[in-house]
Amino acid sequence: MPQPIDILGIESSCDETAAAIVRSGEELISNVVYSQIATHHPYGGVVPELASREHLRAIVPVVRKALEDAGKTYESIDAIAVTQGPGLAGSLLVGLSYAKGLAFALEKPLIAVNHLEGHIHAVLLEERQNGNSDLQFPVLALVVSGGHTHLYLAERQESGWTYRNIGHTRDDAAGEAFDKVAKLLELGYPGGPVIDFLAQHGNPSAVKFPFALIKHRDRNPQNRHAADARRTDFSYSGIKTAVLRYVEVHDMAASIQKRRESMRSISKPTSQNYLAASDRQTLDLIASFQRAVVDDLVSKTLTAAIEYGVATLLVTGGVAANSELRSTFEARAAKEGIPVLFPSRQLSTDNAAMIAAAAYPRFLAREFASADLSSDPALRLG
Ligand code: KG4
Ligand code: ZN
Repeated sequence: MPQPIDILGIESSCDETAAAIVRSGEELISNVVYSQIATHHPYGGVVPELASREHLRAIVPVVRKALEDAGKTYESIDAIAVTQGPGLAGSLLVGLSYAKGLAFALEKPLIAVNHLEGHIHAVLLEERQNGNSDLQFPVLALVVSGGHTHLYLAERQESGWTYRNIGHTRDDAAGEAFDKVAKLLELGYPGGPVIDFLAQHGNPSAVKFPFALIKHRDRNPQNRHAADARRTDFSYSGIKTAVLRYVEVHDMAASIQKRRESMRSISKPTSQNYLAASDRQTLDLIASFQRAVVDDLVSKTLTAAIEYGVATLLVTGGVAANSELRSTFEARAAKEGIPVLFPSRQLSTDNAAMIAAAAYPRFLAREFASADLSSDPALRLG
């Protein structure tokens, strides 16, 4: 039996301060996520300056709690893993500086992890934890979050994992579209969970969003094959504008204003509060918006999966928490005979367990960061 390796993961790329302990990439020992939603809620989106300030406040107690929950001391961990990027510059800096300081003081190895690779390993961690360690390759991963809508072909090599990017968003990420539509309709921040809930009460066929709106011509294919780039790239800024146009054409300003006012007296509005403050037209618009985004995500991912002869599909990132996305993927991937794996909802959105899990193969390969490691807000994967 190899010796168990306990890695402390630290994640601070956006608006969650998170720390977790994962044993040997396959067992979640503790998982602490401090969400800043309450801070950013009034602004309808993440305010970078406030995010860094909140990370500074939270990082020490969050890491301490992750160790306490795991019954571990600082000295008894084997390595520290930290998100290097992509993300908000100031936010990344807080987690990375703290992790570096901790690694230096404790004389433990430091491992730099790409946040997007982390999302992929959230699925792999839970599959291993459930005893499914035999993945069928090729693997295609859709990472769909507030900042990213990316498709990666993932391979496991002797020395670790490698990734090839075969599709990405040309403009807004899918989660960003959920957040912007929610902001436009006065549904608070983040938009995904509330839209997910409200969509279940509307008619998804009420408003037709022509598919052309979310297709996008690749004007700058660079080194990539232009036809491929069109088929497997995403674009969600068009549908956001289409929702705005719909709101204008159908004179929905008064109903939006009414919702804003009725929410003012509620300190933490719930999805039920938003439901009570939404008329049929609004609910139908929300359901139709979600259906269009989900259809597009599922269709493009399955097109790529078939084209590349994929044996397993992973769907991960904040938007992977969406109920309709999960059920549509399950139904349509089953028709193609492709198993589709999701993280639990808890590990779909940002967390540090995924960072500690992604670091384990690097620990085994002794890929440690040097003392001059710096964060990279635009870090790419593959
Ligand atoms: O992965 P994540 O926590 O942070 C990033 O790396 O961006 O993803 C956050 C995004 C937000 O845009 C949020 O609205 C979206 O995930 N999200 C959802 C749901 N839960 C979170 N989108 C749709 N349906 C959900 N249930
Ligand atoms: Zn994320």
